Amino acid sequence: VIFKDSKEPSILVAQEIADLIRAKEKQNKPCVLGLATGSSPIKVYEELVRMHKEEGLSFANVITFNLDEYYPMEQGNIQSYYYFMHEHLFNHVDILPENVNVPSGTVSSENLYQYCIDYEMKIQAVGGLDFQLLGIGRTGHIGFNEPGSHLNSGTRSITLDHITRVDAAPAFLGIENVPRKAITMGIGTVLKAKRIILLGWGGNKASILKETIEGNINSEVPATYLQNHNNTTFLIDEAAASEL
Ligand code: GLP
Repeated sequence: VIFKDSKEPSILVAQEIADLIRAKEKQNKPCVLGLATGSSPIKVYEELVRMHKEEGLSFANVITFNLDEYYPMEQGNIQSYYYFMHEHLFNHVDILPENVNVPSGTVSSENLYQYCIDYEMKIQAVGGLDFQLLGIGRTGHIGFNEPGSHLNSGTRSITLDHITRVDAAPAFLGIENVPRKAITMGIGTVLKAKRIILLGWGGNKASILKETIEGNINSEVPATYLQNHNNTTFLIDEAAASEL
């Protein structure tokens, strides 16, 4: 669905998430959200915070799993996704701290493999993701599933693509400071979500969105795997849609 800019679709996504949270609350069930970082979802989080403050939307029944985190990475570092999520959402709503899950960038390398398996199991143990929010990277990654990621991949550590590190360089004040690795949910993890929304804003996403939406499904553009999911919507602005 193509919009003039990111404002209206961000409000629509927040509304869909709020409706889901309230529906699950009525059923006395947890609402399991898969969340993304980056600039794309910021307005969605702003709107959710507004709904919490002005409309009493409660996050007491919400369990969140973030897609990814740099590795290694300290939680208190301002470049961490842990920090980002607390700044933009968790610090401003009534979510229980024990219901917040962001992959940890501080796990020791010996424990990393098992840590990722446990993260994956934790998602499935609470019934899987009811909703997954996504952005897209210029390599066609979702989360940090870089080109070459397998359809059935689960949560794991991954080596970041050079383009991804170039895009992250300004935030780290130079590419030499960008971590070479990350932890990410897998393509298989994401595709198990009952509902997926991908957000794409701006002309620098136009060519990867064309490949993702119109190209053949292939591991070199991992976001193309979304074509196989039966309940995914892409919300993009006119600039991002300019090559379709
Ligand atoms: C990072 C994140 C992705 C995100 C992408 C796009 O690589 N790991 O989850 O989708 O950036 O970021 P932005 O929304 O800032 O364009």
